[in-house]
Amino acid sequence: MVEVASASQADIDWLVRQDASAGKAWVSRCVALGEYLLARQAGEIVGFLRFSRFWGRVPYMEMIRIQPAHRRSGVGTALFLAWEEAMRAEGARMLMTSSECDESRPQDWHRRNGFAEIGAIELPGLQSVPEVFFIKHIG
Ligand SMILES: CC(C)(COP(=O)(O)OP(=O)(O)OC[C@H]1O[C@@H](n2cnc3c(N)ncnc32)[C@H](O)[C@@H]1OP(=O)(O)O)[C@@H](O)C(=O)NCCC(=O)NCCS
Repeated sequence: MVEVASASQADIDWLVRQDASAGKAWVSRCVALGEYLLARQAGEIVGFLRFSRFWGRVPYMEMIRIQPAHRRSGVGTALFLAWEEAMRAEGARMLMTSSECDESRPQDWHRRNGFAEIGAIELPGLQSVPEVFFIKHIG
């Protein structure tokens, strides 16, 4: 069984290791604001979801990652659906996410979860390929 809950102070070291590109200051900030959800199985952390809010109000899933040994067993879906439900409870009517344009497998997974592609932007100097954006209406 997968249990999903917001990350707490005690999870910061694990998140800093696993979500390394975020850096400790950003990880701590996101934990304080409730912007991390963790999936646990038998007490062990098996995945995380980090989000923010586009325009300060549209929930934007920045990162979802399941530990390699636990992939393709429903953990990612459980984590995503728990986030969607939490955002709906807050009154959100739309979700956003994005992915590098050559990452076809995560994109297929986003589509499977009800996201539709809405366009791509180039990020010269930041990324060598365009970033594709997706939305999901949950109203
Ligand atoms: C993408 C990811 C979050 C999916 O989580 P997961 O727990 O492995 O996926 P689930 O088991 O919940 O997937 C549910 C369904 O989607 C399918 N699926 C899983 N990964 C998939 C993929 N990469 N592409 C297409 N379908 C996929 C599964 O077969 C499953 O279908 P089924 O129940 O009919 O067999 C996870 O594989 C991961 O962490 N990948 C690496 C990081 C990444 O790419 N993150 C996303 C961009 S930030």
